[in-house]
Amino acid sequence: MSENIFLGGGGADYCQPQTLSLKYANRHGLIAGATGTGKTVTLQILAEGFSKAGVPVFLSDVKGDLSGLALAGSESHKLHGAFQKRAETIGFTDYEYAACPVTFWDLFGQQGHPVRTTVSEMGPLLLSRLMDLSEAQEGIVNIVFRVADEEGMPLLDMKDLQALLVWIGENRANLSLRYGNVSTASIGAIQRRLLVLENQGGTNLFGEPALELADLMRTDANGNGMVNILASDKLMGSPRLYATFLLWLLSELFEELPEVGDPDKPKLVFFFDEAHLLFEDAPKVLVDKVEQVARLIRSKGVGVYFISQNPADIPEDILGQLGNRVQHALRAFTARDRKNLRLAAETYRENPTFDTEAAIREVGVGEAVTSMLQKKGVPGIVERTLIRPPGSQLGPITAAERQTVMNASPMKGKYETRKDRRSAFEMLQARTDAAAQAAAEAEEQLESQSIAEREFATARRYSGSKVTRSSSRIVRKKDTFATAMSEAVIKELKGTTGRRIVRGILGGLFRNR
Ligand SMILES: Nc1ncnc2c1ncn2[C@@H]1O[C@H](COP(=O)(O)OP(=O)(O)OP(=O)(O)O)[C@@H](O)[C@H]1O
Ligand SMILES: [Mg+2]
Repeated sequence: MSENIFLGGGGADYCQPQTLSLKYANRHGLIAGATGTGKTVTLQILAEGFSKAGVPVFLSDVKGDLSGLALAGSESHKLHGAFQKRAETIGFTDYEYAACPVTFWDLFGQQGHPVRTTVSEMGPLLLSRLMDLSEAQEGIVNIVFRVADEEGMPLLDMKDLQALLVWIGENRANLSLRYGNVSTASIGAIQRRLLVLENQGGTNLFGEPALELADLMRTDANGNGMVNILASDKLMGSPRLYATFLLWLLSELFEELPEVGDPDKPKLVFFFDEAHLLFEDAPKVLVDKVEQVARLIRSKGVGVYFISQNPADIPEDILGQLGNRVQHALRAFTARDRKNLRLAAETYRENPTFDTEAAIREVGVGEAVTSMLQKKGVPGIVERTLIRPPGSQLGPITAAERQTVMNASPMKGKYETRKDRRSAFEMLQARTDAAAQAAAEAEEQLESQSIAEREFATARRYSGSKVTRSSSRIVRKKDTFATAMSEAVIKELKGTTGRRIVRGILGGLFRNR
């Protein structure tokens, strides 16, 4: 098995092979460049390379054009000639068309197998980020998780979250004593944000069966790594949902995978397209966490590759960790462009044969300034590289072709049907129902009493000091409801003491801020 992935040809005449070492592929990477400069094709050839080396890949398909990975390129493609010529220029003699084994995923369950997670797996920090909550509101989300945990009520879907918020509103007085002020205004605000999230696709995202990470880490019968493609065109309509979901996925990988140190090749490579969305008005605490995840996930054998138009959109601490770089052309129209260009150029190890800054400005489409990690993880000298042409189809596949791939996938049927097991919503609902039923029964009993009995009972009221008031049997619904509720809570509490429902997101990184 090859230890490198062939990227393209560098040097003056583009014939020096440029490769990405699999050994250092878990030390992350960057694909940057202005629009139309070749980022997507670079991602495509990297995905092909990893798959061929037996490394599973996860990537998001923002424009739908990466679905072509599932089909082999073809001689009838309009760029066939251009591809052959490019292959020749870079001395790519064993260039051939081939498809990758692909699994399609889709939060909306249309263009791929559904991807779900539970509310508790998302955790309070990411959930608050998802809903763009204020600090006070985030405090309440934390209480929701705490209460769910303490009372043994699984937080799976949006209904659970909604029901617990209502419950917290009703028990505000008590909870405020324990956790500090729980204001109705904040609860109301969260509920409104929940509605927004629901409309954006939150209803689909949250629930069970939740995605099993092992399903992203498979290889096919030939030992090729599966290329997992998340349909993201519709998802991009809610950029925050998109970015938070991917961040969640990273954090889950970090949490679930065992330490492997520095493996010969990565266990999984994760491409984060439109990575700038992750950092757009992100609070410092979140950026710090992302930096931490990036630093720590390496030893789990996961390589993370950020794709962005401008490297300046990625915080410096994170940029500093992206060892393998493919920098396509950057524009230099404005003073700010030029400054960014200079800064981008400064991060590379100079090549005496050309000026890095000028090269980043001048490289053509499908050409890039590259620097890959070398022996001992040292950044390589920067090269001007003509990127190899793709072996899979350039451009999207048809809906029918996609369906064929989905039908043949071993994932078919596993996630399609939503399961709605008993969780917070149902538990609270059951309590309400039980209370209502008790009230109804009491009323019925009262009505069935004979008039004589009732008169007798009423009369007893005045017949002595010790006699209880029979009218207390006329149950006021609300009171019974509250009692039944608190009794049920106590019962529930006793049954589940010590049980941890809320999973530690990111080994507590995201939970204990
Ligand atoms: N390595 C390559 N080999 C052959 N052709 C390429 C290569 N890279 C880019 N091209 C050509 O350039 C076009 C644009 O590239 P690509 O779609 O990757 O740009 P992009 O940077 O992803 O653009 P956008 O920002 O709009 O998504 C491709 O459709 C293809 O025709
Ligand atoms: Mg693109």
